[in-house]
Amino acid sequence: MRRTTLVVLVGLGLAGLIAFVTVVAPRLLASQLYPAPQQPLYFDHRIHVELAAIDCTFCHRTATQGITAGYPDLQQCMFCHVVVGKGQPEIEKVRQAWVEQQPINWTRIHRVPDHVHFVHEAHLRAELTCATCHGEVGQMGQVTRVRPLNMNDCVSCHRQLNALTECATCHY
Ligand code: HEC
Ligand code: HEC
Ligand code: HEC
Ligand code: HEC
Ligand code: HEC
Repeated sequence: MRRTTLVVLVGLGLAGLIAFVTVVAPRLLASQLYPAPQQPLYFDHRIHVELAAIDCTFCHRTATQGITAGYPDLQQCMFCHVVVGKGQPEIEKVRQAWVEQQPINWTRIHRVPDHVHFVHEAHLRAELTCATCHGEVGQMGQVTRVRPLNMNDCVSCHRQLNALTECATCHY
């Protein structure tokens, strides 16, 4: 009897340790490394990408052609939210902004310093996907950074995929 209790306790302790090491600790680490900033309203990518099945580039329209990916205009939100979600508090903030013609000032999550030149278009032309650099955004309630995208990270990938690595590629 006492031996089984002991075995069960040790088992539970081990299970707890494994859960901590594999699930809790990485989350704690990730949330401390790249904490998500406070946004003016809660925009959930899961609802829009998975439930409403909207393409990334419907909202981030310039990603495949330009330097930046861009944020969607309110007009694109109103395509649905004239009708969808009327009366829900977070959606009312969107409708209010539209009525007042005030753009929503999203807080930037990814940003390279001014002395760095980054072009979305070149990377998508090279057939990298959004997820390579941003992770599975369609499964994120709030977007957080998943990889450093610092010089070391950029240069390692460039080396690996035979892209340019001269300083002037990324610095003018
Ligand atoms: C319905 C519109 C919509 C769709 C579809 C959408 N996004 Fe977004 N995305 C937004 C808005 C609005 C923000 C700003 C709020 C935020 O950061 O969550 C944003 C923010 C982001 C950011 C963070 C930008 C920063 O500040 O660094 C990334 C990365 C991103 N989206 C990638 C994606 C990817 C990848 C997909 C497809 C899997 C996608 N988005 C689909 C509207 C959209
Ligand atoms: C193709 C249609 C479509 C577009 C475009 C769209 N949404 Fe939505 N959105 C939805 C649907 C569907 C829901 C879920 C509504 C519900 O739960 O009743 C939703 C829900 C929301 C919510 C509520 C989320 C929550 O957790 O309660 C917010 C806020 C929101 N959308 C903001 C936006 C913003 C900002 C944009 C523009 C960048 C946008 N939506 C563009 C379809 C859309
Ligand atoms: C090779 C890596 C890489 C890929 C692939 C990539 N991004 Fe980015 N993304 C970045 C970096 C780096 C930044 C910060 C750029 C800056 O500060 O100018 C960024 C910034 C953003 C932003 C914030 C503001 C803006 O307008 O640039 C959004 C939104 C975004 N990316 C969406 C996307 C979407 C959607 C895709 C796929 C269609 C994508 N990204 C593919 C690396 C990438
Ligand atoms: C996951 C791999 C990967 C990452 C991460 C990555 N790149 Fe790239 N980059 C590429 C590839 C592949 C190309 C395209 C090479 C080509 O067209 O021959 C490219 C092209 C470029 C170009 C365009 C060069 C030209 O043709 O004019 C610039 C600028 C650039 N990257 C900057 C950056 C910066 C800055 C970062 C980090 C913030 C970064 N890249 C991160 C893979 C990557
Ligand atoms: C593929 C893109 C890429 C290439 C190639 C590249 N850099 Fe960078 N560099 C970055 C990015 C992104 C940052 C900003 C993030 C960081 O500090 O890591 C940066 C930052 C820097 C900084 C500022 C560091 C700081 O602490 O503020 C210096 C200095 C620098 N790079 C010099 C160079 C030199 C010299 C070369 C050539 C040997 C070079 N870079 C090549 C992407 C690149």
